[in-house]
Amino acid sequence: MSRGQAYDLVMASVLDDRQIEQYRRDGFLVIEGFADRSACADLKAAANHIVAEFEPTGQRTIFTTNEQERASNAEFLASGSSIWCFFEQEAFDADGTLRTSKELSINKIGHAMHDLDPVFEKFSYRPELAGVASDIGLVDALALQSMYIFKQPLIGGEVGCHQDSTFLYTDPMTVTGFWFAIEDATLQNGCLWAKPGGHRTSLRKVFKRAGTTDDDGTRFEELDSSPLPSPSELVPLEVAAGTMVILHGLLPHWSDINRSEKSRHAYSLHCISAASDYPEWNWLRRPLDMPLRSLAGVGA
Ligand code: FE2
Repeated sequence: MSRGQAYDLVMASVLDDRQIEQYRRDGFLVIEGFADRSACADLKAAANHIVAEFEPTGQRTIFTTNEQERASNAEFLASGSSIWCFFEQEAFDADGTLRTSKELSINKIGHAMHDLDPVFEKFSYRPELAGVASDIGLVDALALQSMYIFKQPLIGGEVGCHQDSTFLYTDPMTVTGFWFAIEDATLQNGCLWAKPGGHRTSLRKVFKRAGTTDDDGTRFEELDSSPLPSPSELVPLEVAAGTMVILHGLLPHWSDINRSEKSRHAYSLHCISAASDYPEWNWLRRPLDMPLRSLAGVGA
């Protein structure tokens, strides 16, 4: 018996057959009330604390998935094993001065809070989440990347239509996103949109390190020139705080800019299967003394 098979045997089932079938058909699954309100409040407080402690350096790190503008600097490439705050693209005026407070200017925190911050760790390594991963066929899930996304009032940036396997690639492709609404996500404040069944298509491109060091930057490599769906083909996922949305790694999804007065906080944890190969050229790297850990907490 392989380690993965042994792991699956001890996992308690969380999803019912109808939910598993829905996930296989649509490439996403919405589970209301997965995280309770107090856990969401704890995570929000922990995120706010990280931002309060964050001292911006001279070099701004802005997050956007628009290819040309994507920040690929050393902080980004090192953030797979650290905690870093990325500014909104519209946070600065022409002089490079913050337009509003630091607290309302951060786009997201990434990408290793689940292993470095005890509150994020507790939220991420929970048996019921490991059970969900097992139910959808993610064998021996490892927690790879965490993001706390603020989607700030008025300036919360658009995240262009993409497939998560572009940014976190395994062979075979296993990356799966567990997205938690920490605040209500609505059409007004930039909820997720997804293409039902869109995971049953090809991966369009991969995001690779251009060299062996963080200074070498990154590049996109096109695999299939077929366009991703247009916004009119996507459905909105308006969900209440505490809802978890599972996203297949090949599912095209998007979220709009937030021009409303309300933020849209979310936490996202991306996992891969320990049974898959994780190429060295992925942007996210872990040093040898910080190995990926199993969602079920059985070591990796
Ligand atoms: Fe995504």
